[in-house]
Amino acid sequence: MTIQLIKKAEETHSLNKDELVLLLQDGSINEELFSAADRVRKKYIGDEVHLRGIIEFSNICKRDCLYCGLRGSNKKVERYRLLPDEIIDLAKKAVGYGYKTVVMQSGEDEYYTVERLQYIISSLKELGIAVTLSLGEKSYEEYKAYKEAGVDRYLLRIETTDKALYEALDPGMSHEERKRCLRDLKTLGYEVGTGNLVGLPNQTLESLADDILFFKEMDADMIGLGPFIPNEDTPLKETSGDNFTMALKVMALVRLLMPDVNIPATTAMETLNKNGRMIALQSGANIVMPNITEGDYRKMYALYPGKICVNDTPGHCFNCITGKIKSIGRTVSDSKGSRVKKARF
Ligand code: SAM
Ligand code: SF4
Ligand code: FES
Repeated sequence: MTIQLIKKAEETHSLNKDELVLLLQDGSINEELFSAADRVRKKYIGDEVHLRGIIEFSNICKRDCLYCGLRGSNKKVERYRLLPDEIIDLAKKAVGYGYKTVVMQSGEDEYYTVERLQYIISSLKELGIAVTLSLGEKSYEEYKAYKEAGVDRYLLRIETTDKALYEALDPGMSHEERKRCLRDLKTLGYEVGTGNLVGLPNQTLESLADDILFFKEMDADMIGLGPFIPNEDTPLKETSGDNFTMALKVMALVRLLMPDVNIPATTAMETLNKNGRMIALQSGANIVMPNITEGDYRKMYALYPGKICVNDTPGHCFNCITGKIKSIGRTVSDSKGSRVKKARF
């Protein structure tokens, strides 16, 4: 029965909520599910893998998400922020390695005013690359100003579509406001990335199915699935962190339902499984986001424990990841790797 559902999803790219739940709960079909997602990836996207260099430029955050090590209440993390010219220098080096996209990610840090960001963005755009921001919730006017400065893409995970769970885990934040941000980003013409955390305490399979349907409904361009990894220095330290397989299943189902979207093999997946990114690339993913931050900042951007590459350099990671991608018979793209929309499914 569930095998038939995989076949149906591979052919029609459509499943309803009950069907998604059946597939999420059946552990016996995982390999078939991953193989089907890999075939759909190959058919619609091909063998190219796009690299996005990520600069984790500030770990200062005014929010207090219960799952995240950067939450404002965590006094154990040593805080830092990079100055605008330091960010631009890292981006220049990334272009030297061959990156065609730079992603700027941070906590919600108010030091980076629109004016400062405009300066950084315009300098990055002069390098001829695609620029992605992931700075959290901002007003329509702020998103508009970044777009006008040249930003191409924005990443903002919905985290979970379960409103009550979201509001319990993100104190002071509203689910409506999160959705308002995603709508504004779409209206402004960004390529929009969203995604969720898989394995949050009290998260049900039904709500994971809702998440997948939400991504499809909003026609997101990129979907990042993160296995939740408990952090010792947060209120969720006691929760289970064995979320790799479920995150991979959610990812594979996203590929089946949204054949042409960009899907990263996430750093959190590799943190839980030493070959996690390659497994993800063979189960539906087509993007990798290597860290291009330098020095101790890699360690200090401590969302969760065991983060990979904290003692490595951007040059080492670039060579490491390109070697791994080639070793599984895939190629590293030399284009910017925007989503190429096929027919609407
Ligand atoms: N502050 C911005 C935001 O929240 O959108 C961007 C940076 S935030 C650190 C990036 C992502 O990290 C979040 O969307 C969340 O899904 C993920 N994250 C935070 N804590 C995590 C944890 N313990 N395990 C796995 N992923 C986590
Ligand atoms: Fe801040 Fe983002 Fe972490 Fe929430 S997930 S505490 S907004 S860095
Ligand atoms: Fe950083 Fe492999 S990608 S060491």
